[in-house]
Amino acid sequence: MRTYHDLTDPDRSGLAQQIGAQRQRVAERLAGVGRIVAVMSGKGGVGKSYVTAHLARALARAGKPTGVLDADLNGPTIPRLLEVSRAPLTAHSAHVEPMVGLDGVRCISMALLLEDGAPLAFRGPSAESFVWRGAMEATALREFLGDVEWGTLDTLLLDLPPGMQRYVELCDILGTPPAVLTVTIPTPESRDAVRRAMRAAVDRGSALLGVVENMVGGELRGSAADELASEFGTPVIGRVPFHPSANAWDQIADQVSRAPRTAHRAS
Ligand SMILES: Nc1ncnc2c1ncn2[C@@H]1O[C@H](COP(=O)(O)OP(=O)(O)OP(=O)(O)O)[C@@H](O)[C@H]1O
Ligand SMILES: [Mg+2]
Repeated sequence: MRTYHDLTDPDRSGLAQQIGAQRQRVAERLAGVGRIVAVMSGKGGVGKSYVTAHLARALARAGKPTGVLDADLNGPTIPRLLEVSRAPLTAHSAHVEPMVGLDGVRCISMALLLEDGAPLAFRGPSAESFVWRGAMEATALREFLGDVEWGTLDTLLLDLPPGMQRYVELCDILGTPPAVLTVTIPTPESRDAVRRAMRAAVDRGSALLGVVENMVGGELRGSAADELASEFGTPVIGRVPFHPSANAWDQIADQVSRAPRTAHRAS
């Protein structure tokens, strides 16, 4: 497989044009989307997807049309959380319609595309699986952003997998870094992983909307959210206990819907 650096000059300028055209397509597709918010953590299993789905539902109940792009291509969980059935997606010649889940939240996920539910990671030729998987994932993400017709949305939430790779890919595809909402649990281990993610987001130019502390009030000890909020000068916008009531999300939804709108640009 050739890398960008192996390309000859004419190829290289062609590639730059392709990237420009793709960004243009993504910008046009997202023109009706008020704001894009990546839900991120850097740490696995802290409740990013759970927070994303419930926040989306609270926004939708407040009368703000909301979509979720499940950017966890290998462990997609959003359709289950929003009780969206697998199939069939409605595909038109130039676009795909998102599915509609609980409270009217629109959603797209790899789980809706893989007929047998097999994760992307296991679908490549094994000798090159790492390279192949990376290329597949970036392509799938680009297609989601370029092909899904969300219509008019107040907010599009992006549910990211753990780590920073998907965030970096998103910044490249979008051209403009998304606003970032971070999720942590109270522990020092979570704080340290989330700090790295927040630093990377700030370095890339994302606006930090705040920190949600999940799984509070139980056995987990620590004050990760307060510490991160004061380090980064951003608010703690919610503390979510285990099995919260539906109205626990209202305050978080209110804060997110006050965030500045995203300017979509093609370069
Ligand atoms: N506040 C909560 N109350 C009850 N269960 C919760 C809560 N937050 C998360 N969970 C549960 O904890 C598990 C992990 O949450 P979730 O899958 O949202 O984490 P994640 O950060 O998205 O994980 P991954 O890093 O794998 O994407 C799930 O079973 C989820 O339903
Ligand atoms: Mg998740």
